[in-house]
Parts: sequence; C-alpha cells; structure tokens
Amino acid sequence: MVKVTVAGAAGGIGQPLSLLLKLNPNVTELALFDIVNAKGVAADLSHINTPAVVKGYQPKDKSDKSAITEALTGTDLVIIPAGVPRKPGMTRADLFNINASIIRDLVANIGRVAPNAAILIISNPVNATVPIAAEVLKKLGVFNPKKLFGVTTLDSVRAETFLGDLTNTDPTKLKGKISVIGGHSGDTIVPLIHYDTGVGLLKDSEYGDFVHRVQFGGDEVVKAKNGAGSATLSMAYAGYRFAEYVISTVTGGATPAGRVPDSSYIYLPGIPGGKEFSEKYLDGVDFFSVPVVISQGEIKSFINPFEQLTVTDQEKKLVEVALKGLKGSITQGTEFVTGSKL
Ligand code: 2OP
Repeated sequence: MVKVTVAGAAGGIGQPLSLLLKLNPNVTELALFDIVNAKGVAADLSHINTPAVVKGYQPKDKSDKSAITEALTGTDLVIIPAGVPRKPGMTRADLFNINASIIRDLVANIGRVAPNAAILIISNPVNATVPIAAEVLKKLGVFNPKKLFGVTTLDSVRAETFLGDLTNTDPTKLKGKISVIGGHSGDTIVPLIHYDTGVGLLKDSEYGDFVHRVQFGGDEVVKAKNGAGSATLSMAYAGYRFAEYVISTVTGGATPAGRVPDSSYIYLPGIPGGKEFSEKYLDGVDFFSVPVVISQGEIKSFINPFEQLTVTDQEKKLVEVALKGLKGSITQGTEFVTGSKL
C-alpha cells in the first residue's frame, strides 16, 4: 500500500509524471493536488486500468486548506514539481522569487499533515528549494534529513544519453555507470565519468563539450521551447525514475546490486558520516548531490565519490566551482525561511 501525492500535478511536469506513477503497480493511491485542473487530470488518469486509485484535489480559494490537507493525509511520498518554469535567458536562480514561497507553503503543509512522508523536490532552483524545505521542517520540529530528496536525476539521464551519443553506446547500459554530483544548475552539476563506464575515456576535446552539455542541457530545451517553458517530459521521466526507486524500497525492494544508485541533493549532516564528508571534501557545504542508498523510503547511506568512486583532478576542479555556486543558493534558501512566518 503506497500513497503518492503530486503537488503541482496539472502542470507541464506534473501531468506526465502522474501518468507514469499511475502505471506503477506498487502505487495504490495517487493524490493529485494543484490550484487548477487537478480534478480534470485525475478524472482522465482514473480511466487507465491499473490499480492506483486516482483523486484530484483543488482548493476553492486561496484560504482553502482542505484540499491540500486531504491530498497529504496518510501519504508515503510527496513529489513536488509545482511552480513556474524558465523562459529563454533565465537561469534556474531567476525562479527563486516565485517558487520559494510556493515550496515554503507546500512543505509547511507536509510538515503539519504528513511529517513522516518522503519528500522529493523537483521545483527549481533545486539548489535553494531543498534548503528551504529543510529549514521549514526544522522550524516545525519535524525535519528528517533521510527523507528529503532534491531530484537531480535529469542530470544523470542527460549524462547517460549524451555519453551514449558520443561513444555510440546504448544509453540504457550506462545507467549507474555515470554519477552526477553537486547541485542541479549550470556549473554546480558535476558529471563523473572516469570510472568503469565500460566505454573508454573521452578525448579531451569531447570531454569539455560533454561536461558543458550536461551542465547546460536544460538551456537547450528552454531555447527550443522558445518561451513555452523548460524540460517537462524528460524531467517527468527522470523524476519518475527517482520516485520509482524510492517507492520500490517502501515496498521491500533494495538498491540494485552491481551499480551505483542515482544521486540526490540531500542535507548531508543528517546522514551517517555526512558531516565529516562535507567538512573533509566540500568545505563544509551541507547540501550536495551524491549517490544515495535508500531503504524503506529513507536514505540509509550515501556513496562517497572521493573514496568509493574515481574523481580525477579535472573533476575535483569542477567540484570546487560547484561549491561556490551552492554556498550562495543554500544561504539564499535558508535565509528566506528565517525571514518568513510559517
Ligand atoms: C532541467 O534541468 C527542468 O531543471 C529542469 O531542465
């Protein structure tokens, strides 16, 4: 029995993500929350002949809390793609002003109604929205860092696809062979390809382009959509890939042996060994994406890339750059909540 709630279910990411969740045989209840059209999307998906019972929840007005409360009651997993997407020329950081308060308010409701749920945050800028969520949950006294996940899987999906293109390899064979660490924005994204990808190393000229394409792949989509938003379908696929992993562990599955699990942007001091890792390798940066081993819906441990994978000097330099960007976003997110009334 797994109840999953999607907050922002009627949006560009929310709809395809909800479709994929409806197809998951482990999902018994799918609660779709949005401020518009959640009931329509739910009615549509409910005709699909899979076990998940789908319900839509839409508030009557701004002060109506009953819809979100019902959507969250008894939920095991909340996935949040809510918020606005980028337009050409914008970075993910430019979304902060609008999306920060959306995440703050949603997470405050989760903290009050479903404090034991796993929370997966897709809304950008992930580098700051996850610290916002952590700070809200801390303020409410219900923060469980083992259950707060920033979704960075699209970076891995892109890395697998682009490396597959460059090396003429079936990209599905690269799952778990490329870890992407750091954050989820531009040069905070650090793909690690120099271990056991089984396809050989890239030439120096190819490597630079590959890293740049993984870091700025989101911009390709924003540009191509030309004002109509950012990645929605690939984001939904990637968000689902990570959600499926978490759901599989709720129903008794384990991290597949023989491959590095997907990364997630997490609060390291809340995970065994995370504080020491952050102090030794990350200049004390607390939020960072690393491969996570999940069991029963929560993080059991993480893979230390510097000790358990191979990180080259070139990649260490990328990490240094990433840390600079992350520091600013983490402070911005944390301070936003300090100055907010919940
Ligand atoms: C992206 O990487 C939407 O953040 C998402 O394209």
